[in-house]
Amino acid sequence: MNSIREQFPLLRTYKDLVYLDNAATTQKPESVIKAVTRFYEKQNANVHRGAYKLSDISSQLYVEAHTRVASFLNAYPDEIIFNSGATAGLNTLAYGLTKNLEKGDNVVLTRMEHHSNLLPWIEMSKRRGFEVRFIGLNPESGELLEEDIDTCIDERTRVVTFVHTSNVLGIVNPMHRLITRAKAMGALTVVDACQAVAHQKIDVKALDCDFLVFSGHKLYGPTGIGVLYGKKERLEKMDPFHYGGGMVARVSDLSIAWKDAPMKFEAGTPHIAGAIGLSAALKYLENLGWEEIFSHTETLTKYATETLSKIKDVKIFGKNAERRGMIAFEVEGVHSHDVAQIFDSENIAVRAGQHCATLFVQELTDNGIVRASMGIYNTKKDIDKLIVGIEKVKKMFHV
Ligand code: ALA
Repeated sequence: MNSIREQFPLLRTYKDLVYLDNAATTQKPESVIKAVTRFYEKQNANVHRGAYKLSDISSQLYVEAHTRVASFLNAYPDEIIFNSGATAGLNTLAYGLTKNLEKGDNVVLTRMEHHSNLLPWIEMSKRRGFEVRFIGLNPESGELLEEDIDTCIDERTRVVTFVHTSNVLGIVNPMHRLITRAKAMGALTVVDACQAVAHQKIDVKALDCDFLVFSGHKLYGPTGIGVLYGKKERLEKMDPFHYGGGMVARVSDLSIAWKDAPMKFEAGTPHIAGAIGLSAALKYLENLGWEEIFSHTETLTKYATETLSKIKDVKIFGKNAERRGMIAFEVEGVHSHDVAQIFDSENIAVRAGQHCATLFVQELTDNGIVRASMGIYNTKKDIDKLIVGIEKVKKMFHV
């Protein structure tokens, strides 16, 4: 994977940049940038609305993008809805799946959730009266409390919604355990796969979840394009969240009949270029090989854990848990924002603070967390540079 950096124009421009903020967003390979540019230069027209050749081409590319995402997830193309990102997907689900919920019903989340999988459900619970329950955390390991899975999810649970791989620590949650318990209680399952998709192929049939969301920009695609997967029979039963052009089969003064999914959930002109860019990103990753990608970030994560473990006064969060694609830590006594700023002075880009997951981070530390997240173009040298940054922090703060 050593020559990969060369395939990313931004990384060619900033030769000294140590980019370790891939969990926030990944850089884009040349092939993705070219696919988006080609669309605007040679293929641009609205989809499913034009009776002319250019619109046919554009519509065809847009349909192909659904098909490629479906194949990535082992789903059917009409189970793939494009939207602006995981946040849009989760808002759609929080709105659509709680429509008939009432007092006495509950929705189960975990304390590990990103705000995008927390705030929509809390807001809906205020409007609709159902209870929001949280599967707690072990503050030492950062993992979910196994026993809470059975106590929180009961016969009045209607939805269980949880992150596959934590955006803060990279911890991989017990998917089978959560989904099996939810199904046994008759609840629907929603998986936030934003961080997982950058490192591995996902099989929704093997997972047997009802819904799954992710954002294209986390797997080397453009920003502003996301995916909501839903089992066909579930999408048929769910109401849309947005209303507008392209989604109705029939409309009169008194009644509306929706088109089938995905169009029912894609009102308005979609982000066509984004969908084409996402498709190009998936093609690029398929060519690299998912096994190769998985083992590359696994190796880097292990190397980072071993290396940082040797540094005194550095605390690694979730050290012994199953983690993917990142290392989260604090330099004892130093605020995470100070650490990130000193790293920046060494051209190292990381994220620091609460990571839009306040409930999680505040259970672990008051200093915020420094997160170095790896992508396919990172190398062991980048991790070594991280060590240089940490030594500088310790020197400046006399740790
Ligand atoms: N959700 C992204 C992150 O964790 C932005 O940084």
